[in-house]
Amino acid sequence: MKVLVVGSGGREHSLCWAIASSPLCDALYCAPGNAGIADDATCVAIGAEDIEGIVGFCRDEGIGFVVVGPEMPLVAGLVDRLEDAGIAAFGPTAEAAAIEGSKGFTKDLCAMAGIPTAAYGRFTDAAAAKAYIRDHGAPIVVKADGLAAGKGVIIAQDVAEAEAAIDDILVERRFGDAGRAVVVEEFLDGEEASFLVLVDGVNALALASAQDHKALREGDTGPNTGGMGAYSPAPIVTEAMVKQVMTRIIAPTIDAMADAGTPYKGVLYAGLMIGNDGPKLLEFNVRFGDPECQVLMPRLFSDFLPALIATRDGQLASFDLRWRDDAALTVVMASKGYPGEYPKGTEIRNLDEAAKVEGVTIFHAGTRSEGAKVLAVGGRVLNVTALGATVAEAKARAYEAIDLIDWPEGFCRRDIGWRAVEREN
Ligand code: AMP
Ligand code: GLY
Repeated sequence: MKVLVVGSGGREHSLCWAIASSPLCDALYCAPGNAGIADDATCVAIGAEDIEGIVGFCRDEGIGFVVVGPEMPLVAGLVDRLEDAGIAAFGPTAEAAAIEGSKGFTKDLCAMAGIPTAAYGRFTDAAAAKAYIRDHGAPIVVKADGLAAGKGVIIAQDVAEAEAAIDDILVERRFGDAGRAVVVEEFLDGEEASFLVLVDGVNALALASAQDHKALREGDTGPNTGGMGAYSPAPIVTEAMVKQVMTRIIAPTIDAMADAGTPYKGVLYAGLMIGNDGPKLLEFNVRFGDPECQVLMPRLFSDFLPALIATRDGQLASFDLRWRDDAALTVVMASKGYPGEYPKGTEIRNLDEAAKVEGVTIFHAGTRSEGAKVLAVGGRVLNVTALGATVAEAKARAYEAIDLIDWPEGFCRRDIGWRAVEREN
């Protein structure tokens, strides 16, 4: 079977790395890919959001299965278009992808299905949103309804900041059409975890647990980013927690989506806040987490491609995946300046030496090759990933590799995995 992976980040590199090792995969392509993905797949110069370009390529090449990485093309209907053209694809339809594409849609679904989540209001009118904020007080959370590249969530510490966020989103339209509506919700306390399941429309298969570090700086402080590192398993996600999340959050969601005539297929990523009264849903994503995927793939013992195909085919009921006992940890190396402005085209050296450290795999995110050189062209650039008997061992290996990488224009957090390492101690 010829397989195409759509996307160009570290998530897609880890997916390509896993799929390339499947005996079912005769040829692997990635659109558009990056310098690291080129080691595992043939990169084709088609953007992840170029729906017509992707469908045309699949027809011309006789692609048998497409795995869509990022949310944008899913929300824009890439899977619908591929399936209409007779090309099997992993991921939800555009209608089902509204579960990430509209926060208001998901909150209403939670309310209807009794899924635990923060209390909320949904508004298009700024005055009404502000009245709700004044009624409820701070801290309070303001979210743009649509996709805003992870930047549309404002945790306001006081009422004035929340009201300013309303003006920013609804009036100034800082996130464009993604800000046609807002969700204002209760601030939740607790520890976050990422819970990913494969869903075939009816059945769900939980993947291993993971936790990411969204904040820019050590100690989980500073502005939110796309994720500065991750590890798996997440100790807070015990067997009992998995059962609770499956019965209280995942199963009712799958049922509600099916009842609405928009059955969900693909990977469903539940962002959880685990507090004193159990797990609550922060948000759903319709894609693998990035960088969570980069720690899940190395821990996978089973061939992943058949699981992706079974998800698409509605055959997950009797499916199982086996995982290594080893922990995995990934550290994101980003361009200095990220998540703000950063230079592009700086050279990264010594990646081959770094990749020789025991247990280490380096997944590329924002890289491009120029001859033999690897250049940084994005904000998040590398995911230095390691397996180890414990999170502490995986962490030590990842940082050993990082210290071998010669890239003065890059930086990383030095404390990825700290919560799990503390628990191990
Ligand atoms: P979201 O995109 O909805 O997951 O929000 C991004 C991040 O904002 C989450 O990962 C949390 O760290 C934080 N966040 C979102 N909603 C809440 C909430 N209701 N209470 C506390 N933190 C939140
Ligand atoms: N790591 C967070 C996300 O993928 O949304």
